[in-house]
Amino acid sequence: MNQSNKLIKNATLVNENEILQCDLLICGNRIEKIASNIEVSPNYEVIDASGKYIIPGLIDDQVHFREPGLTHKACIHTESKAALAGGITSFLEMPNTKPQTTTRAEWEAKNRIAAETSFANYAFMFGGTNDNLEEILALDNKRVPALKLFLGSSTGNMLVDNPEVLRAIFSSTKLVIAVHCEDEQSIRTNLKAAQEKYGDDIPMAEHPLIRSEEACYLSSSQAVALAKETGARLHVFHVSTAKELELFRNDIPLKEKKITAEVCIHHLWFSAEDYQTKGTRIKWNPAVKTKEDRAALWEGLNTDLLDVLATDHAPHTEEEKNQVYTKAPSGGPLVQHALPALLTAYHQGKITLEKIVQKACHNPALLFDVKDRGYIREGYYADLVVLDLDKEFEVTKKDVLYQCGWSPFEGTQFKGYVEATLLNGQWAYSKGQVHPQSAAMELTFDRE
Ligand code: DOR
Repeated sequence: MNQSNKLIKNATLVNENEILQCDLLICGNRIEKIASNIEVSPNYEVIDASGKYIIPGLIDDQVHFREPGLTHKACIHTESKAALAGGITSFLEMPNTKPQTTTRAEWEAKNRIAAETSFANYAFMFGGTNDNLEEILALDNKRVPALKLFLGSSTGNMLVDNPEVLRAIFSSTKLVIAVHCEDEQSIRTNLKAAQEKYGDDIPMAEHPLIRSEEACYLSSSQAVALAKETGARLHVFHVSTAKELELFRNDIPLKEKKITAEVCIHHLWFSAEDYQTKGTRIKWNPAVKTKEDRAALWEGLNTDLLDVLATDHAPHTEEEKNQVYTKAPSGGPLVQHALPALLTAYHQGKITLEKIVQKACHNPALLFDVKDRGYIREGYYADLVVLDLDKEFEVTKKDVLYQCGWSPFEGTQFKGYVEATLLNGQWAYSKGQVHPQSAAMELTFDRE
């Protein structure tokens, strides 16, 4: 049997705003044909997918896989496997590693690690600093998905805070500029006041007041204003407040937008009420905010003010997370559980399957010009996820694939299960196991 040629029969595809019953013919690493009742010779692997849903592999536009330099928390090898188990077949990784990915040499070095060890398709964002504009302008825009700027400090201290440099970057790069927006001065003032009151053991309930709505809005509105002034292509990462939604539009298609926005699974799932039980395990930057903010984010996603659904997967060890507020780092592991959480939200009536696929598969591909992925289309790479929508399961520590060995969802009951993942036409994950042979590829971008 030729293992690389497959016929998937009777699948229910969720794709391009439709749900339809079809057969899928996969030859080599691409989708050859989508039609009803495809017949093939006996040397094809035939899979009967009756009762299963198939969606395009998710493209996660924001993950931190910690390699090089922070490999006591995670590495590309372990986290890309966890991603496959969560239906994420492609990831865009962030530059706050050690050393930071702020030179072309470091960026190439990271790519080499991924070429040898990644289990999922990969690409690496380049980090802007106060003094690397020349490097930014020399990047290969067909290989670099975007520039990442921290306009508020988080793990790794990569703050870009020189207004002249910011203006020069915004005015000169053609790349998408993906930004972390939280106003540094507001955070410092709020943190100082909280420390004066509580010392280092600040209650977690204070976190969204320290990393406040105002801090988010001030920073993201300034970034949007600068993008409008300079004509830059801006993508605002992890929007966490209702108020920021007024900065974005939904009256034009994504491809025409110069300013786009991402929302992350933790801001959609958790709210400030969860700090009581989850503590620093749900400490993120930007902070998880109020229930009202969370409801507004769902609404913003469903009405297309928010364009992309992502994880911001950012693992830290349990030991690190178990420290007092001022020492516990922000971030948590998410790639394995984001899709089951979204499918559970679908069962709860919060979002449709078509919308999940649009925001987590199609839109990242469109937004970053990812070549031949993000859709189930003839000629596209066969990155596919097979779902059992009705299967319920509880997240337990023993099933966690993250190197850090914990999940903020432990104990949570999900409805919606990733049964298998196909990567570049090869089975990559099935029956709870990541396959030992990886077909991962570097992503490329369809640009001038
Ligand atoms: O909570 C966060 N953790 N937010 C970020 O932006 C960075 C991330 C990390 O790298 O730990």
